[in-house]
Amino acid sequence: MSQKNNILVTGGAGFIGSALCRNIVKNTDSNLIILDKLTYASNLDSLSTILPKKNVFFYKESIGNIRFLKNILLKHNPISIFNLAAETHVDNSILNPTTFIETNVLHTHNFFQTILEYYKRLPHTISSSFKLLHVSTDEVYGDIKLDEPAADESAAYNPSSPYSASKASSDHLAKAYFRTYGLPVLISNCSNNYGPFQNNEKFIPVILNNLIKNKKIPVYGSGKQIREWIYVDDHCDALLKLINRGVLGQSYNIGTGHELTNIELIQKIITILTELRIIRNNEINNYLNFITDRLGHDKRYALNSNKIMSLCDWQPKTEINDGLKKTIDYYINNNN
Ligand SMILES: NC(=O)c1ccc[n+]([C@@H]2O[C@H](COP(=O)([O-])OP(=O)(O)OC[C@H]3O[C@@H](n4cnc5c(N)ncnc54)[C@H](O)[C@@H]3O)[C@@H](O)[C@H]2O)c1
Repeated sequence: MSQKNNILVTGGAGFIGSALCRNIVKNTDSNLIILDKLTYASNLDSLSTILPKKNVFFYKESIGNIRFLKNILLKHNPISIFNLAAETHVDNSILNPTTFIETNVLHTHNFFQTILEYYKRLPHTISSSFKLLHVSTDEVYGDIKLDEPAADESAAYNPSSPYSASKASSDHLAKAYFRTYGLPVLISNCSNNYGPFQNNEKFIPVILNNLIKNKKIPVYGSGKQIREWIYVDDHCDALLKLINRGVLGQSYNIGTGHELTNIELIQKIITILTELRIIRNNEINNYLNFITDRLGHDKRYALNSNKIMSLCDWQPKTEINDGLKKTIDYYINNNN
């Protein structure tokens, strides 16, 4: 990304969006416009270091509000847009799928439509640099069997939960807007993120907050589900490279290749907390509370991320133990 630019980030008060915003402010002198509805999942503390800056503008509104969106587009003229606004918690999508369809499909569609209208009116000198990066998930590929290779970008979408189905729909809409209307859009599909400021109901915060309070950790089913973990700053680094170097209309997987079962992840965290003397007992069985498995629970996600690594010269930098230590440090100091 060029150093001077107007950048719009939606969902910027969420876990990944806020990390992206902090990264943009740290590494560029761009004007940053943040649009976030401030749902329960948001956390304005995550933006507290950057909101006072003169080049940062925050708006509390939904991406689905066409009139509002038009106004801020006309006011700020962004030429790079990162769309991270979404409902993101799989368990909530099972309890209340409608909210997920509204936000991740209908409001996201309003958003694409409004961005397209804005893009078409830009003068050519500006429109030739305009790009929208739609941020999505590895969950759209569904369950990857143990003997199957990791999913590359040509793998068929096979979502299992209302969350992943709604994200898959938005990815298809993004591709349709590229193919049908020429909207300059890229799509990223990232694996499970971890790091500071993640909402307390997500898996790593649940593990940490329970261990710190000496409580048992709820574990779905056998705990043998496999996920690929990436430190949030490595994801943001990939997004910034992708918007610069990615080919329009294409999808890019973003992952580390570091697969862990949920039990292995808990063991890693217990080992670090024992070394730090935050807990005394490193016997994992003392901490596990097996509960009925999640409906439609995927056993394994796994990404082949060779495309972004070779085309965008990106590599994850954070080794999992180092990333977990930084994350643990945050949750120890912000435990409630
Ligand atoms: N967390 C992960 O592991 C992960 C992995 C891959 C992809 N993703 C994707 O990255 C994006 C961000 O994920 P996250 O973990 O930071 O989510 P999050 O739930 O922490 O944050 C989402 C943010 O979007 C905002 N939001 C929700 N609906 C909105 C609307 N209609 N208009 C404006 N803002 C709205 C919320 O207020 C919140 O601040 C999502 O699109 C998600 O699908 C997440």
